[in-house]
Amino acid sequence: MNSQDIEAKIDAAAAAIVASKRIVVFTGAGVSTESGIPDFRSPGGIWTKFDPEDFTIEKFLTSRDSRKKQWEVLLEGGLFGAVAPNPAHYAIAQLEKLGKLDCIITQNIDNLHQKAGNSPDIVFELHGNMQWVICMHCGKRYSTETIIEKLQSGIEIPDCDHCLGILKPDVVFFGESLPFLILNTAIERSKKADLFISIGSSLVVTPAAYMPSYALESGAKLIIVNIGETSLDNRAHILINGKAGDVMTRILEKVSTYLCV
Ligand code: APR
Repeated sequence: MNSQDIEAKIDAAAAAIVASKRIVVFTGAGVSTESGIPDFRSPGGIWTKFDPEDFTIEKFLTSRDSRKKQWEVLLEGGLFGAVAPNPAHYAIAQLEKLGKLDCIITQNIDNLHQKAGNSPDIVFELHGNMQWVICMHCGKRYSTETIIEKLQSGIEIPDCDHCLGILKPDVVFFGESLPFLILNTAIERSKKADLFISIGSSLVVTPAAYMPSYALESGAKLIIVNIGETSLDNRAHILINGKAGDVMTRILEKVSTYLCV
């Protein structure tokens, strides 16, 4: 895609945002790679280094070796690091400030939309949030920082201080169902959207990847911002293959101009 194409599409995307009333932004790991968090399926992504088959809830609960590996991946994945929002997150926060955002539906667990300034009550986290670790037995919650200290002190598999139960990050593992209320809300908001913007997702993991289709079936326009191909490229009204930080920043600059703010 040459720079003229991208410029024209950025302009069209900005015009679509200005003309829309119920905008849903859907994000995947690609919106956080510019914050230093690897995504999953790009070259060098987490699933190119680790086998996702090792990371199911069944394996996590039945084998200490699997739990040890999972904690290593979460440390390796930089999800515990002091990561900060990048320009893509700030552009999405700006959409809310301009009154042009119904909600964010994210597959990410890094809390970066909230850190960038989006209101937590309009961020629907389909796969949970890395801020907390919970005991699968007694339900006690620990901050991730507390668990990091344990891991970095050499404890390979942290157990619950209270009941010695299995501790698990408060995120959705393969084989686990998504939080029912959040999933239902995400489906409803997708069906009511008049503009659905997918940013940094390959759109392959369901049920999250059904959200853009719900929006399309209800008559919404679909914008996709992504470096690589996605499973819905052929259904996008506007497809922009570019870096989320740059593209979203330029779109918001145009939107602000159109809105004379
Ligand atoms: N700007 C735009 N797109 C980017 C950027 C970037 N800076 N960096 C990466 N991408 C694109 C990649 O080309 C890729 O198509 O983001 C997409 C990320 O896709 P995945 O790695 O598959 O991540 P995601 O879609 O979020 O995966 C969904 O899979 O393993 C599970 O639970 C995990 O939530 C995750 C789910």
